[in-house]
Amino acid sequence: MDRIYIFDTTLRDGEQSPGASMTVEQKIEVAKLLAGIGVDVIEAGFPISSPKQFEGVRRVAESVRGSTIAGLARTLEKDIDRCLEALQPASKKRIHTFIATSDIHLTYKLKKTKKEVLKLATDAVRHAKSLVSDVEFSAEDATRSEWEFLRDVYTAVIEAGATTVNVPDTVGYTVPEEYARLIDYLRREVPGIDKVIISVHCHNDLGLATANTLEALKAGARQAEVSVNGIGERAGNASFEEVVMSIKTREDCFGFKTKIKTEQIYHLSKTIVSFTGMPVQPNKAVVGENAFAHEAGIHQDGVIKHKMTYEIMTPQSIGRQRSILVLGRHSGKHGVKERLKELGYILPAKDLDKVFTKFTEIADKKKEVFDADLIALIEEELNVLPKTFSLDYFSVITGNRVIPTATVKLKRGDEIIQEAATGDGPVDAVYKAIEKITDTPIKLISYSINAVTHGKDAMGGVTITVEKDNRVYRGYGVATDVVEASVHALINAINRIFYNGL
Ligand code: KIV
Ligand code: ZN
Repeated sequence: MDRIYIFDTTLRDGEQSPGASMTVEQKIEVAKLLAGIGVDVIEAGFPISSPKQFEGVRRVAESVRGSTIAGLARTLEKDIDRCLEALQPASKKRIHTFIATSDIHLTYKLKKTKKEVLKLATDAVRHAKSLVSDVEFSAEDATRSEWEFLRDVYTAVIEAGATTVNVPDTVGYTVPEEYARLIDYLRREVPGIDKVIISVHCHNDLGLATANTLEALKAGARQAEVSVNGIGERAGNASFEEVVMSIKTREDCFGFKTKIKTEQIYHLSKTIVSFTGMPVQPNKAVVGENAFAHEAGIHQDGVIKHKMTYEIMTPQSIGRQRSILVLGRHSGKHGVKERLKELGYILPAKDLDKVFTKFTEIADKKKEVFDADLIALIEEELNVLPKTFSLDYFSVITGNRVIPTATVKLKRGDEIIQEAATGDGPVDAVYKAIEKITDTPIKLISYSINAVTHGKDAMGGVTITVEKDNRVYRGYGVATDVVEASVHALINAINRIFYNGL
């Protein structure tokens, strides 16, 4: 079987999407999960683009072993040198350099001729190769570039030492058949291409990123660039879970294998939701809440008789449990610990105590505590974002004939700060009180709420985006009470604002 290399760009292209920024500690956590799940290459960021990006790549390079760590660089010497500086501590490092090749980018963005771009690409790869042995070159907007020019560029960069050549569908424009033809053309026309890895990098503007990726692999590409939950610029990148599970589920059709331990996919996906505050749609392939839920009577009947009637992969294969009833108020710490272990969380005693205390509070309010409740809870409790503020107490008086009035107490270190405020509704009132306490006026851009778990007593997950000083921040909170979930979401967003350096 042909081995497919998985190149994960959640921390670079994914993190580049509006409001998805992660703290450096969160990036390290994600990179460790990516290495643990078996990703071949982790693209950790774009070092020259900001000091924070540099630090992110550097710290991932220091802390993560097993996978190759890649950094992105334009075809400028200063970018490549800075990239190497960030990657230095990595035991396996890759410099990934790119330049656009389409006429539209050359004319309007780069204002360069083809000859100039060809030289920049070649010089960049030659320079990168003098620093590291593993060099990837990307022809940005390849799918809208002239094929003959692509042939010349790839030929030159391979001669200069590129070991991977990436063919990005930067704007999600291509379709499977055309993309496969392009890969096939390059395989026939570019001398030396059989000695390097052909990579594909698809965006999802037309919802074709996974299909395009798979078709290009069938045509001979051997590296797939993906992001967890498909996050990324605009409509996102090809999704990690979709590409990997397609390869696994349709092994009969593709004859490919990856090194991915698919049982860790769900946990990885949930971690990205928690860290970025970007939820996945309930019907999202593979990791959506409903991906293994059967509603229609006929489907339920079929599944009860034989799971494979309506399931093409098992929930366990991505680390999800089928069981509905999990734990309740009579469960002890041992039971919770075992259940968490089954879900892939092996916690140190201190964290387990924290989670267990919170679990008992929820179990008191709910008849049943489901796996999803536990996962939501653990992400809330163990979120590695520094908690500048945390909730001590809140109360809100509301009704159809009173002005909603909230009192909120937040902890900041040892200090407890209290404020009261009125608003148009209970959430507005608590938000105004929190803004006063934290002295952080924000503009609420979006607010969405969905049930994280099933049933009347489900946990509510609230996701907000707020604007502060022209930057957008996300916040995510879960609780059985929606106002409380809203409070946690705003505190989460404000902690993110403080972390980003108020
Ligand atoms: O979409 C794209 O073209 C990119 C490149 C930098 C690989 O992200
Ligand atoms: Zn991209």
